[in-house]
Amino acid sequence: LKHIGVLTSGGDAPGMNAAIRSVVRTCTHHGIEVTGFYEGYQGVIDDNAETLDARAVAHIINRGGTMLRSARCAEFRTREGRQKAYDNLKKRGIEGLVVIGGDGSFTGASLLSDEFDIPVIGIPGTIDNDIYGTDFTIGFDTALNTVVDAVDRIRDTATSHNRLFFIEVMGRDSGFIALNAGIAVGATNILIPEESTELDEVITKLKTGRENGKTSSIVLVAEGEKMGDALFMAEETKKHLPDYDIRVSVLGHMQRGGNPTCADRVLATRLGVAAVEQLMAGHSSVMCGVRNGSVCTVSIHDAISRKPGIDRNLMHIAEIVSL
Ligand code: F6P
Repeated sequence: LKHIGVLTSGGDAPGMNAAIRSVVRTCTHHGIEVTGFYEGYQGVIDDNAETLDARAVAHIINRGGTMLRSARCAEFRTREGRQKAYDNLKKRGIEGLVVIGGDGSFTGASLLSDEFDIPVIGIPGTIDNDIYGTDFTIGFDTALNTVVDAVDRIRDTATSHNRLFFIEVMGRDSGFIALNAGIAVGATNILIPEESTELDEVITKLKTGRENGKTSSIVLVAEGEKMGDALFMAEETKKHLPDYDIRVSVLGHMQRGGNPTCADRVLATRLGVAAVEQLMAGHSSVMCGVRNGSVCTVSIHDAISRKPGIDRNLMHIAEIVSL
C-alpha cells in the first residue's frame, strides 16, 4: 500500500481532527502517502485535495470541527458522481480511502467500493452515537459533556425561579445524547424517539414531583422525539399545568463544537491507526469501532443497515432516580 485518501463527511463532530491526525501519522509511520480531500465526497468529485504530511496535522488534536471541512454531497448519490470520484482517485494513484463520518457517509463508501473496487474503511464520527457496531462514536463524549455543562447552567436559573424547563438536545433519529445527559443532569423526564411516551405520563410525573417537594424540573427532549419538539411539548404541558412557569431552551449546534474530550481524542486516535492497518491488511468495506473497550471491526453493510439499540437498563435507571 503506497497511497491512501482520507475525508470527513456528514455532520462534523469533535475528535474528527484527532482521527485525521492519527490516519496521517500512521501512514507516515508506515511510509504511505496520504491525500486529504476537502468537504467530504464533493472534494473527491472536484479533486479538491492536498497531500498531508505529519506536520500538516500538527496542533489539531485539540480542535473541534474538521480541518478537511465536511459536507453532505448530493452528487455522490448518483452513479455519475461516484464515477467522477473514482476517476480522480485513480488519477492520483490512490489505493484506499478512509471515510470519517456517520451512516450516510458509509452508505456512499459502500456503494463506491462495491461499484469500483476501491477499498474503503469507515471511522464512526458523529455526536449522535447512532451507529451500529461500535459502543461509541467519535464526538459523542464531547457533545455529552457540552450538554451537561449547558444544562447545569440552566438548572441554576430554573432553581432560582421555580421553573420547569423543556430542553431540546440533538439526535434526529436517536436518543443517546438525551438519555445519557438526562441521567447526568438529573432530568425529571427524558423523551427519546426509541421510547413512546404519552404526554399524560410526563404531566403525571411533573405533578408527582411537585407533590414531593420539587420546585423546579428539567425535561430533556431529543430532537427526534415523536410526540413533537420541546416547544410543542412545553405548549401542550402549559394547557394542563397552567400555574407552572415554563421555559424552553434549544441547545442546537453548540453541541457539535468545542475541543474534544480526552476520551474522544483517544478513541479517534485508536480508530485512525486501526483504519490504516485494515487497509494495509487488504481489507475493505469495514468500519472500525470499539466494543467492550477493544478496537473491533464490523462490515460497513451492517453498520448502515442495522441500528444500535438504546440501553433499556439505562432507561430503567433514569426512571428510578428521577422521583
Ligand atoms: O450530527 C448529527 C446531527 O447532530 C443530528 O442530530 C441533527 O439532526 C443534525 O446533525 C443537524 O445537522 P445539520 O444542521 O448539519 O443538518
